[in-house]
Order: sequence, then C-alpha cells, then structure tokens
Amino acid sequence: MQRVPATFLPPIALDSRSKTPMYRQLYDWFRQAIIDGQMRPGQRVPSTRSLALELSISRIPVLGAYEQLHAEGYFEAFVGAGTCVAGSIPDDTQSPPAMKARKGLQEIVEKLGPRLLSRRGAALTHLPAQSWLDNLGAFRMSLPAFDHFPSGVWSKLVARHCRRPARGIMAYSDAMGYLPFREAIAEYLGTVRGVRCEVSQILVTTGSQQALQISAQVLLDAQDRVCVEEPGYPGARQAFMMAGAHLIPVAVDQEGMKVAELMHRGRDARAVYITPSHQYPTGMTMSATRRMLLLNWAARTGAWIIEDDYDSEYRFGSRPIASLQGLDTDARVIYVGTFSKVMFPALRLGYVVVPKDLVRAFSAARDAADVFSSTLYQAALTDFIREGHFARHIRRMRMLYMERRKALVKAIRTQMGDLLEVIGAEAGMHLVALLPSGTDDVAVSRRAAQRGISAMPLSVCYLKPPARGGLILGYGGTNPHQIHDGIRKLRMSVQQ
Ligand SMILES: Cc1ncc(COP(=O)(O)O)c(C=O)c1O
Repeated sequence: MQRVPATFLPPIALDSRSKTPMYRQLYDWFRQAIIDGQMRPGQRVPSTRSLALELSISRIPVLGAYEQLHAEGYFEAFVGAGTCVAGSIPDDTQSPPAMKARKGLQEIVEKLGPRLLSRRGAALTHLPAQSWLDNLGAFRMSLPAFDHFPSGVWSKLVARHCRRPARGIMAYSDAMGYLPFREAIAEYLGTVRGVRCEVSQILVTTGSQQALQISAQVLLDAQDRVCVEEPGYPGARQAFMMAGAHLIPVAVDQEGMKVAELMHRGRDARAVYITPSHQYPTGMTMSATRRMLLLNWAARTGAWIIEDDYDSEYRFGSRPIASLQGLDTDARVIYVGTFSKVMFPALRLGYVVVPKDLVRAFSAARDAADVFSSTLYQAALTDFIREGHFARHIRRMRMLYMERRKALVKAIRTQMGDLLEVIGAEAGMHLVALLPSGTDDVAVSRRAAQRGISAMPLSVCYLKPPARGGLILGYGGTNPHQIHDGIRKLRMSVQQ
C-alpha cells in the first residue's frame, strides 16, 4: 500500500455536555470520516498526545477511541510512520447505507437537474470537447522547445530571489506589476517592437489572456459589439464573450483583416481585436495600407483597437514588422503581449500597454481580479532580460523554429502534398494546412488525438462555418523525429 503523507484533518466537533462519552464521540467521528472518504486509506492521523492537545481534552478518551478503531480495522500502526487509516477498510463501510452516505451529495445535485447559471456561464458549458489538447506530443499548439530552454540559468535566477528574499518579493505588491520588470518590458518593446510608451503604461498580467479579459471588462458593456478576425483566436473571443459582448466576425485575406468590411459591418463597434503582425491562425501580416485605414477608422469612430502581438519575436524570412501601436497618434490602441511563447506558458506572465488616461481603470480592474502576478517570477525574469539571456534565447529559438518549420513544410509536401496545403507567412510557432474541400477537420483532429497527435481544427477559429477546413500544426515543441512520425500518423488520420 502506498502511504499518504500527513494532511489536514476536517474539523472535529465534540460536545462536552453530551451524554455520549468523549471517547465514543471521537470514535464515531473518525469512523464516519473514513466511511465518507474525508479520510483516505494510508492517511496519517495525529498522535494521541497532539490530538488531545489540539482538542484541549485529556489523552485518555483519545487513547480509548484509537484502541477501538485499531481493533475494528479502521486504523493501522506503521513502524516509523505512526498511526494511519487502514489500507482496506472493513466490509461494513461498503454496506448500502455507507455507500449512500458517500454518494449522497452527488445524487442530490444530479436530482436537481440543470441549475441556474448566468447566460455567460451557461454558454461556457456548451463548448465542445477539445481533443487536440489531450496530449503534449507532435504539433501541440503554443508549445516552445522546452528541451532548449536554459533551465540552469533560469533556476539560478529564481533561486537568487528565493534564497534570501527581499520583503518586496514576498509581500503584497503593486497591481501594475514589479517596477524593474515593467522598466525592462518598456525598454524591450520600445527597441524591438516600436511601441511608444512610458513605464507607467505597462500593466503586468497573468499571461495575455488576462490582459484580454481586463481590456474587455474595462472597455465593454454587455451587448457591446466587438469586431474579431474570422478566423481568429478563440481565447480572445472567450474573453469578450465573458464580458457579455456581441461578436462580429470580419474576414481576413492576404493583407490581414478586411478593413473595408470592418467599416461596413462594424459601424457602431466599441472595439476591434486584431493580430496584425502574425494573424492568428492563418499567419498573414497586415499591410501598411490596412494599418493606416484601421487607425483612421478607430480615430473617427472612437472604437478601441486591441492589438495582440503574441509571437512577433519569431519572423524568419522577412524583417520584423513594427507594432500598430507605434503608428497610433490617437491613443486608441491597447497593446497586448506575452512571455508564454519565448519563455514557457506556465510562467503566466504577459503585459498590456495601456493608453495613459486608462491606466487607473486597468489597474483597478487588475486589483479586483487577482491583485498582481507572482513578484518572484517577475524579478527572475527581469534578471533574465537584463543579463542578456532573453535576447540570446530568442535568437537561438528563431533559428531552431525556422528549421522546424522548414522540416514540417517539407514533410507535408513529400508525405501529404495531395492532402494538405500550407498557408501563411514564415513566422511564429505554428502553421495552417488546409484540408481537401468537404473534409471534416474536427473529425480528423479527433482521429489524430487517438494516435497521440495534436492537430487543432481550423474550424474552431471560425464563428461561422468555414468554406474549407484545415489543421493548425504547432512545430515549436515538435522535434524533427516527431515531425516525421507525426505526419505519417496525420496522413492515416485524414485517410481514416
Ligand atoms: C493569439 C494568441 N494570443 C495570446 C496567446 C497567449 O496566451 P497567454 O499569454 O495567456 O498564454 C496565444 C497562445 O496560444 C495566442 O495564440
């Protein structure tokens, strides 16, 4: 039997005025807790001395209760581990009344049927199962090359701040984020992305998802219209839906979002969400003309532009394209970025560059949400950036991802050229491959998941049914061997 380490006990209520003796009350409590599953087999129970102390009673009733529980097989003693709940509990706990007690709550909930949720909450429960998230193997989206991450350097930097933590590392902190971190972000964005901002405009968030969520909360009221790219990023759509927004899909083509269509369909829109540097998921780059048209439209209508610059660090063929925010002269762009792609998603660090007049509202919204992000990781990442590891890692990963993209495109051409058509710019950590017309991409994705392959269906990025399905294939965390094997399995999944 595997023993469970000491854990917390649920509260023990004893009644000193009851006619039931104290030892019996204790015995009944432990027995019931074991039958109900509140105490698990192998779980350590406190020593008689410490339990008596905790309950402020004499040790004698505790000894009496423990003796009885031992005698009936509910407790077992282990050398060196003290007393534990027995690995197999006596048969009577499998009796119908005991089973009923255990299942009781669940049955009550099921009998009540669907319970009242908000419309937004209910809409979330209707989202389909995402089988492409079942595994972390080949083609999983948004997965960096973990085996190339400088874990040694990173762990030293984290340890540096852990060993003798400054008070500021462990205490409550500013909702806007750790100041040196915000300074490093502002410098990076100004130099590399052409973002025009002051440090006071940088709000650190729990990944860009939270930046989108806070933007939605601050900028939108229920039923407000928000234009989104079609196809577009489902995470952004969910953030806007949770704010009660009404989504208007606007088509994208080779030059990014069709701004003429936006002007027509989004006349009274409060905001537009776009990924101009690397359209998600198709990979197009928004043209300079469209950028200017979009900024003029926003200035004229008073709409907000939410720019998601999620993976602009990785462009392979062409020079990096500066942010839309840098061209904005009316402070209408909310610029969102993330460390999920360059570092790793579980770090949960992102940022939003907020127009100056909105800083107070954004800061208060962050405070109301979850106060602030882990200062420890903000401090470690500040050092990682300041000491040059960040720039070095990006340079290395750019080369690696370029090679992986090439290998994936080559494998598709040679093994699946008749079934998949690659689209999009040479950038980022994923590509889109269109399937033959009439192919159900969700069904292909499900079959691929059964073979251990993650292939996100393109159709989930559409609000309306697409003309043609496809697969979104991540290559950042997929090595050449996995690419070769993954494409073989993908071929089988398309052919059934
Ligand atoms: C378009 C887009 N935005 C943002 C993100 C990153 O989200 P987060 O920073 O919350 O991890 C992703 C990740 O897949 C993405 O594809």
